[in-house]
Amino acid sequence: MNQKKKLLKRFSKYIYPYIKEEIILFILMICSSAGSLVTPYMLKVIIDDVFPSGNYHDLIMLLVLLVGIYIVQIICSLVSDVMSTTVSKKISSDIREEAFANILNKNISFFKDSKVGELVFTLMNDVDNIQQTTSSLLIRSVKNIIVLIGVLIMLFILDYTLALMSLLFIPAIVFVIRAFTPYVKKNFTIIQKMEGSLNNYLVERIKNIRVIKSYKTVDLEEQNLKALHSDLVSKHSKGTFISSLNGSVSSLLMSLAPILVLSYGGYQVFQNAMSVGVLIAFIQYLNRLFTPTLEIVNSYNQFSKSLVSMNRVSEYFNVEKTTELQEDKDPRNEIEQIIFKNISLFHGNNRILNEINLTFDQGKTYILSGGSGSGKSSIINLLCGFTELTNGELKINNQDIKENKYWKNEFCLIEKENQLFHDTLERNIKYGTLKSQFEIEDVLKYARLEEVVKKLENGSDTLISYSGGTLSDGQKQRVSIARAINRSPSVFIFDESTASLDAKLETEIINNIRNLFPKSIIIIVSHRSETFELADRIYTLDKGNIEDNMLSQAI
Ligand SMILES: Nc1ncnc2c1ncn2[C@@H]1O[C@H](COP(=O)(O)OP(=O)(O)O)[C@@H](O)[C@H]1O
Ligand SMILES: [Mg+2]
Repeated sequence: MNQKKKLLKRFSKYIYPYIKEEIILFILMICSSAGSLVTPYMLKVIIDDVFPSGNYHDLIMLLVLLVGIYIVQIICSLVSDVMSTTVSKKISSDIREEAFANILNKNISFFKDSKVGELVFTLMNDVDNIQQTTSSLLIRSVKNIIVLIGVLIMLFILDYTLALMSLLFIPAIVFVIRAFTPYVKKNFTIIQKMEGSLNNYLVERIKNIRVIKSYKTVDLEEQNLKALHSDLVSKHSKGTFISSLNGSVSSLLMSLAPILVLSYGGYQVFQNAMSVGVLIAFIQYLNRLFTPTLEIVNSYNQFSKSLVSMNRVSEYFNVEKTTELQEDKDPRNEIEQIIFKNISLFHGNNRILNEINLTFDQGKTYILSGGSGSGKSSIINLLCGFTELTNGELKINNQDIKENKYWKNEFCLIEKENQLFHDTLERNIKYGTLKSQFEIEDVLKYARLEEVVKKLENGSDTLISYSGGTLSDGQKQRVSIARAINRSPSVFIFDESTASLDAKLETEIINNIRNLFPKSIIIIVSHRSETFELADRIYTLDKGNIEDNMLSQAI
């Protein structure tokens, strides 16, 4: 219950910016429903008063009025439909934007454990689900309740006893809704989880298409998907069965009301204790009780589902927002020295780094070498703030790294994996740097990309395909290097990112960087002996230990 309140409080804030639109929407809805409250009564007047009096003029006037009411109703519902879509899409955009910003602000470790497909599913599907509740469900429900009250008042005006009889089914319906809700919610939770996993599955298979092709496992994957689908289909069927049964039982209860009314009201008419007009109007009002009641039942189901989605999305809202400002707004400081002092790192019980001591000085080039899994990337993750430091001290210019968040602006990490976006080559290079000291042509030259760009159809305006497919691995790495050069950081970090370049190209580029930035620290993770020659110092790691100074040779 408490959790529910918290969720509602958190997500109701998205309505506030649109409160004016919501009020207009509400008024439009009420206007269009008010029409439906008046028309049965007009019918009663026509049957009971106008027909007996034989006044044709009155009849025509009332009919014209009826047409007028219908037209107003149609206009109101048209405007409110368009408005409600606009508001709801705006609300879902707001929720998605905030969830996305929160996700991007998450620690890197979050992305290691999280699944792309599920994240995207939550951002799209769950957000839409929440929006349905926040934007329209509330006002629709209030409208329905008002209509319901309006109809009930009319019923009581028409005939007190009949009205009381037809009210009998309302507590029964409330009972039915409450009985069904837990099942609706439970099933929906399972469905959302399954669909999230399905998305993960699809994203992962498409990403690993080369593995699938080379191992010829297309058939196998088809079968896997079939199995996932059959589970999902049965859960959906079950969900629809539960919701439908809920609706059907409520409808059945409601359809008993007119039968009750007809049996009693018909008897009254036979006894001349009630006019035909009243009975007809009464039945019409009873029918008007159906729609809002059913809508309330459905709203309640939808609301339960929304709570499930709110729960899922709110998991992404628990990070403190650390807006990472663009470098132009952030102060930049030269890094003179980086010191790792007695740093240990654990993942669970595994010791990944063991009391490491390292120094990186301004203007020097360093190689980090060591076997796979020896902890090279772990050191870089600490440096870039991707991993939380727990044991030891990490100091920059003799200041604890945590004391100045702007140090982060001074690191450029170039990794082995593709780091490009689906955008033009130039915008990929300029990414994250608003003001550069270089012209794009020069950057291309320094990163040895000028020949590559010449061959591209639109030069540096060429659009790089999704996941960089149109460029070779070495070219992609050079674009990432160009991006770093464009930013001119204090520290360049290459985590095996020169592996796809030949030794000559690597040497040329690193020498270019050294000449352009004589004060920068360059850290290269590499296994190549040719690269070693570029270094002022080599740190060799072995199972989380820096090998003693004999091996960590100063050149
Ligand atoms: N998020 C993580 N959770 C658990 N273990 C990890 C994690 N990241 C790295 N490791 C472990 O830490 C060790 C060092 O990894 P890493 O620094 O990436 O090695 P490398 O020298 O190859 O770059 C490896 O044994 C790896 O399995
Ligand atoms: Mg590594």
